[in-house]
Amino acid sequence: MKFITQVLFAGCIFTAMLSCNNNTKNETVEAEKTTSGTSRKEWGNIEGQPVYLYTLSNAKGTVVNITNYGGIVTSFVTKDKQGVASSIVLGFDSLAPYLQKHPYFGAIIGRYGNRIGDAKFSIGKEHYTLAANNGKNALHGGLKGFDKVIWSVDPPVDSVPSITLHYMSKDGEEGYPGNLNVTVKYTLGDNDDLSIVYDATTDKATPVNLTNHSYFNLSGDVKETILGHEVQINANSYTPVDTTLITTGEITSVKGTPFDFTTPQTVGSRIDAVTGNPGGYDHNYVLNRQGTGLETAATVYDPVSGRVLEVKTTEPGMQFYTGNFLDGSVINHTGTPVNFRTALCLETQHFPDSPNKPAFPTTILQPGETYHSETVYTVSLRK
Ligand code: GLA
Repeated sequence: MKFITQVLFAGCIFTAMLSCNNNTKNETVEAEKTTSGTSRKEWGNIEGQPVYLYTLSNAKGTVVNITNYGGIVTSFVTKDKQGVASSIVLGFDSLAPYLQKHPYFGAIIGRYGNRIGDAKFSIGKEHYTLAANNGKNALHGGLKGFDKVIWSVDPPVDSVPSITLHYMSKDGEEGYPGNLNVTVKYTLGDNDDLSIVYDATTDKATPVNLTNHSYFNLSGDVKETILGHEVQINANSYTPVDTTLITTGEITSVKGTPFDFTTPQTVGSRIDAVTGNPGGYDHNYVLNRQGTGLETAATVYDPVSGRVLEVKTTEPGMQFYTGNFLDGSVINHTGTPVNFRTALCLETQHFPDSPNKPAFPTTILQPGETYHSETVYTVSLRK
């Protein structure tokens, strides 16, 4: 199947300049180009399995790089108001650092984004235990979540730059029940909009909560913090957490608190008033929703670069995380330590620990149902 996929991909290529060896020095390998604005190059291999880097580019010159290892968005290159291009997401320019410890840079997160309390849940009379990989809790799918697996990739078929990734998560993987077939499609539109569409089916009832863990710094310079970014979140309430960052089950109004981003506020203006472990924003916002389609969750503006990021989603929640655990221990490809609060995440999702919080919207996918979720990140300029 994988072989067929690769042959089909090659069939769409009109310029094939790739050498056939597993070349880990990706910069020496020229990319294959396709008719669709999508190209790929070999990016190394893991235990004999090749890993690729896919490049989606549009007419404006915006470029998104994605690897099928973890479905990771490795860069999202746009121009600032001076016309200078740089990546607005944290990432590395080779595979090796992604195989080391890093805090989920750009990755697809699953089977369950964010935390499940005590790494346990029940569905009916069945009790399930997950790996506790964050103190006593389960975080972001476990020890080897969807961020650490190789996804298979469909050949590009659209006239727009896109890639479609598949992963079959086996029954019992990381403790989760049911064989879960997952598809994630990334598309880069002409409007500098990166769309992510997630679908999944299962053969046993299981929790599913998929997201993307891109870390944004709209300045394009990881030496800058994100404290000056202006954020607006379309949410009148959020879900408070305990000291281990597990949702308490309450849904609390943001009014009159440092959590209120219903009007634009800089990240730094009230962040020190958000105490806890370790302090700063790391909370799920309960989005104000009108219906079931794509609706605006958040808008972020960086006055220095002029870049604006709008997030639209079909999800009921969004984790607003301000890089409070970034501590300089990860070094990016330019040799720069990724320091405290130099990026923020806008992880669209269902609410953390929903399997143990019956009042939250359910995250249980039943056999015969299809999980479907869409999020679009759009970049524009305000001059
Ligand atoms: C999520 C969580 C954070 C942290 C990061 C990864 O955003 O909410 O608490 O675990 O992932 O470091």
